[in-house]
Amino acid sequence: MDIECLRTIVARHAASANALVALGLAMDARVRGTTLDGDAARRTEAVLGELGVSGIVASANAVELAPVLASIRVDLLSGGKLLSERSASAQALEASLRQAFGDVSAGFPALFKRLIAPQLADLPERLDAPGAAFLDIGVGVGALSVSMLRQWPGLRAVGVDPLPEAIAQAQSNVRAAGLEHRIELRTGLGQDITDKDAFDLVFVPSAFIPEPHVRAIVQRSQTALRPGGWLLLAMVNPGPDTLGDALTRFRTTVWGGTVFEKGAAQALAEQCGYTDSRLLPGPTGAPVAFVAGRKPG
Ligand SMILES: C[S@@+](CC[C@H](N)C(=O)[O-])C[C@H]1O[C@@H](n2cnc3c(N)ncnc32)[C@H](O)[C@@H]1O
Repeated sequence: MDIECLRTIVARHAASANALVALGLAMDARVRGTTLDGDAARRTEAVLGELGVSGIVASANAVELAPVLASIRVDLLSGGKLLSERSASAQALEASLRQAFGDVSAGFPALFKRLIAPQLADLPERLDAPGAAFLDIGVGVGALSVSMLRQWPGLRAVGVDPLPEAIAQAQSNVRAAGLEHRIELRTGLGQDITDKDAFDLVFVPSAFIPEPHVRAIVQRSQTALRPGGWLLLAMVNPGPDTLGDALTRFRTTVWGGTVFEKGAAQALAEQCGYTDSRLLPGPTGAPVAFVAGRKPG
């Protein structure tokens, strides 16, 4: 078995974990006598519908649901605890989760270099050229930036994130990697950057960023890019079937991110004036796909 098979197996079982989260949220609301709001309610209901349990959850009473809900909590929390480096407090759990998200994204640059960058005109040469620069919007704990700089040893990066706790983790990770002279970390929103003609590549992880922010970031990145530089918008891949699709939308919505309907991300890049825009599917079984667009010039 190779690493791609392993990724596919993990993605398949991750769907079960996400199904349990959706079921748990719906049951928790029933047990407490509250309702879920807006998009989260819609996405949760869609997952329950796909699982064929909407009616059962709606009609069972709190006493019946409570132990079933508790069994979900036991599985998810004990798993989370085992995998969160024995941290007890909620803050430490958040930090472990941020690090886990970052560690997932650290696998991307090798794949990007091998499969995606060669499809984007002169991007590989640009990233190798002296003075090459990468803008990592939503830098999180800095794992993606560190991994990008390992792939392109001459590259410099600017990482932006509104969460001071994430930036503090990123500072420590960047220091540990010995890359503090090549990665600049800024606390702030991606849409508030003021750089002009400064970057060869801008990366935007739209699955973690609310839609109005993504729209503003895509627009703002036009100015931040050097002429001929590329925007890479990472977005969720629709699942392989209707349940997978409902789970993907559910997970992205509860993360506070953007679900683009078919064609919408590419349309956004085109509206903002990017040329050569294209949809790049992720590797088989991967939960991400990409829209790339180029700043004219
Ligand atoms: C899952 S993380 C990305 C992981 C990252 N690649 C790493 O190595 O840790 C997504 C990040 O986007 C950030 N984010 C959300 N909205 C944002 C915005 N408007 N501008 C910049 N970053 C934003 C979140 O705070 C979060 O840290």
